[in-house]
Amino acid sequence: MLTTEWWRSAVIYQVYPRSFADADGDGLGDLAGITRRLDALSVLGVDAVWLSPFYTSPQNDAGYDVADYCDVDPRFGTLADFDTLMARAHELGLKVIVDLVPNHSSDQHRWFQAAIRAPEGSEERARYIFRDGKGPGGDEAPNNWESVFGGPAWSRITDENGKPGQWYLHLFDSSQPDLNWENPWVREQFKDILRFWLDRGVDGFRVDVAHGMVKAAGMPDYTPPANAGSMGSSAGLDDALASGALDASGMNEAASDRPELPTPPYWAQDGVHEINREWREVLDEYEGDRVLVAEAWVDPPRKLAQWVRPDEMHQAFNFAYLETPWNADAIRRVVDASLDAFSSVGAPSTWVLSNHDVIRHATRLVLNPELNPQGAGIGPNSPEHPDPELGLRRARAASALMLALPGSAYVYQGEELGLPEAIHLPDESRQDPTWFRTDGEKYGRDGCRVPIPWEAEAPAFGFNDTGLSWLPQPEIWSQFARDSQEGVPDSTLELYKRSLALRAEHDLGNGALEWLQGYGSETIAFRNSGVTVIANTGTESVQLPAGDGPGTRIVLQSAGVDGGTLPPDTTVWLV
Ligand code: GLC
Repeated sequence: MLTTEWWRSAVIYQVYPRSFADADGDGLGDLAGITRRLDALSVLGVDAVWLSPFYTSPQNDAGYDVADYCDVDPRFGTLADFDTLMARAHELGLKVIVDLVPNHSSDQHRWFQAAIRAPEGSEERARYIFRDGKGPGGDEAPNNWESVFGGPAWSRITDENGKPGQWYLHLFDSSQPDLNWENPWVREQFKDILRFWLDRGVDGFRVDVAHGMVKAAGMPDYTPPANAGSMGSSAGLDDALASGALDASGMNEAASDRPELPTPPYWAQDGVHEINREWREVLDEYEGDRVLVAEAWVDPPRKLAQWVRPDEMHQAFNFAYLETPWNADAIRRVVDASLDAFSSVGAPSTWVLSNHDVIRHATRLVLNPELNPQGAGIGPNSPEHPDPELGLRRARAASALMLALPGSAYVYQGEELGLPEAIHLPDESRQDPTWFRTDGEKYGRDGCRVPIPWEAEAPAFGFNDTGLSWLPQPEIWSQFARDSQEGVPDSTLELYKRSLALRAEHDLGNGALEWLQGYGSETIAFRNSGVTVIANTGTESVQLPAGDGPGTRIVLQSAGVDGGTLPPDTTVWLV
């Protein structure tokens, strides 16, 4: 049951177009493939889909390097295919959110191509962040900033006369030049881009790097604290240890507990809020509840809440929740911090465990974050080799917990199948710029982006019918295929379907959370809209409530429960 503002309680499913379904059989997913498979999402019971980028792009960063914001890359199809997808989704009652990538374009975008051909000081250059180099001959980068993907955040162009020219800023790959958001021309272009897609009927935008865009005046040098999260203002591990916020194992820290660090000069500058407000005005011109969702890696939640004040965006991904380990105390703290922060500005909290940038939670929840820091990925030479059975068990318990929380939740394609991270990808198949820019020191994100399995016995597990796949699918993935889980009572797919159905039936997304006491420190227990949810993150079984009165029954369980006790790494819902 959805209230008028659907997004306040919605479950939004992330489709990663490269890896969802491939109608033309070239090994890379496409829009026609997505349209054909939309029924499965309606059966699953989600309210909306968010599509990662399918725009014209050289695909240096899997489409987050956009060369034309208002067209579909031929590898994914055409605008007509997009319209067909939209129509089918709406027919099924699914909302559609598309990705907006405003911090940077591709270096192949006509704006950047014009900029490098135009002289210094020209209008064309002023659309990006070009600066003269420092030192003799301008041979040194304008400042010391580093790219999120590794290496310097500046590259130097060669002028048409063959001589080294100015430097341009790229917080990500060198093929992703940062746009100059101080320039009103850039702002106008993006309002037109929003209108282009709104006119085509999209229900909203997921805004990429919504904490970037504006840079501090003068762009001063900045050295992040050791081990700081690469994407955001996450606290460095050393600071956290020094402040006592973290025990030595790193497994008990709620990401919301981190001390607030000084803001880096390239993230979370005050000026971004002005941009949020301009966009909000554009969305408000349209009928229906269109929504802006911030991808902003900003700590702590009370600071992130500034992105979703009433005249700014509608939602922000809750990465503090995603980054919190499987530990009852830590989870309680991050849930409280999130509900407090978002409700203080009238926004719903969101919850997310996986996406295309992080290790899938069926693997991540059994890794020690100290040994496997966020952003590094995991591969054959990583320091830990996770136990896949325990990982899946925890993932199921964590998902059942998340889907009972009030607010809006995000599900990343494949998590409903219990997919683990693909760890053993051959080096030559890897494509993440992080892998290249760190000379293989960091594996990056390919392991969570492998095309998903639909049919256990089909070529490429039903991703297409040619058997091609842009990243190789692990053989054991046949056991995760959708068709081998459909209708199997204790499968992960059925657990998700049941959670989503009960969530809708009890309107949990619009509910309110009340903590329950008395189950011990390693257990999370709360009530939301008449449903009691108990999750055991510890190593000992926990007695289930006897006092909950006659007629209490378990309506959902992430793993077998017998004899009135809740085993470790298990979540139940009781009504
Ligand atoms: C966002 C995207 C990520 C991309 C980066 C640069 O964080 O989610 O995939 O690489 O922005 O656009």
